[in-house]
Amino acid sequence: MNCTRLVTSDIYYVGSSDRRLALFESVYPIPRGVSYNSYLILDEKTVLLDTVDRSVSTVFFENIKALLDGRKLDYVIVNHMEPDHAATLSELRLRYPEATFVATQKAVDMMGQFFDSTTATPFLAVKEGDSLCTGRHNFSFVTAPMVHWPEVMVSYDSTDKVLFSADAFGTFGALGGNIFADEYDFQRDWLDDARRYYTNIVGKYGVQVQNLLKKAGGLDIKFVCPLHGPIWKKDIAWFIDKYDKWSSYTPEDKSVLIAYASVYGDTENAANILATELAENGVRNIAMYDVSTVHPSVIVSEAFRCSHLVFAATTYNMGIFVNMEIALNDIKAHNLQNRKVAILENGSWAPASGKLMRELISSMKNMTIIEQSTTLKSSVKAQNVDDIKAMAKALAVDLV
Ligand code: FEO
Repeated sequence: MNCTRLVTSDIYYVGSSDRRLALFESVYPIPRGVSYNSYLILDEKTVLLDTVDRSVSTVFFENIKALLDGRKLDYVIVNHMEPDHAATLSELRLRYPEATFVATQKAVDMMGQFFDSTTATPFLAVKEGDSLCTGRHNFSFVTAPMVHWPEVMVSYDSTDKVLFSADAFGTFGALGGNIFADEYDFQRDWLDDARRYYTNIVGKYGVQVQNLLKKAGGLDIKFVCPLHGPIWKKDIAWFIDKYDKWSSYTPEDKSVLIAYASVYGDTENAANILATELAENGVRNIAMYDVSTVHPSVIVSEAFRCSHLVFAATTYNMGIFVNMEIALNDIKAHNLQNRKVAILENGSWAPASGKLMRELISSMKNMTIIEQSTTLKSSVKAQNVDDIKAMAKALAVDLV
């Protein structure tokens, strides 16, 4: 069996996709699956870049065996040690014991943590700026700590001008035959998953991603080969711009996210009134979610996308309603900054969620909470409608 495709004249895609896994990293729903990308280069020396998750190891090893066709494997470049890419390294070592593993010293140390360190594997520990010639190809190595783990590096092949970018520029979603972004309608079918992947997996480390973008800016890049999702050979600048926005916590769209938590529908009613008033004030593409029915990873991703955020929650056990508290803490944990925020609370005898949401949001960087807010006591009353209209107006004026 051989499910490989050519990327350049001698660089092959040898990864595969898992469509059975429900939760990536046991946290993130992936209804469209996920791909684990690996690349094999048939140069004077043979080179494998990263491996795959255990779930797709059978097809991966068959791909390598078919392409090597009896040749030995000379180098394995390990850009990232997270097990979705490195779990099969131990089996690879057994199958190809002569291969030299090329990685940062931190990654070599991690191999000792994850695997039996007594096996005699040849290692080549590399650092920033080191290079490796394998015949036609010349690789240089660029460290990318915390994109997404501390040991990460990316590898640049100056011959075919390929950036092997590790987790950077990856996305959720399985690949089906097509492996290039321009073989899909990426903006229509992939961008939401790419944003949800970036913001939830790497979103916390915006500074480190900005550092990597600066380093990559000095390279002539014709291909970006990530470890998840499609390979980029067209419109690379468009996707880099998305990464630049996400990693600098710059809103991608001038629009409003309304995230609400409602036990019996009254807070939801207020959220609906607000959405209607926003629309009447000319606001378009309003994104509205019930935090109890949508996974927090979607709320995080949409909060990164939108410029203005509204959080509407009832009070629960004298705190913020549980699913809203989870979503807000998740947004904070991913370091979101630079947003305008409006607050709506509900409480039948002692409303407290507004004050608590305000405190939580105020502890994040550069978040501006707009003055207009409202407090429901159980259900929406005339005064609340006036408050909500004022809130909608303030948001709409700020969006222009
Ligand atoms: Fe896809 Fe950080 O591993």
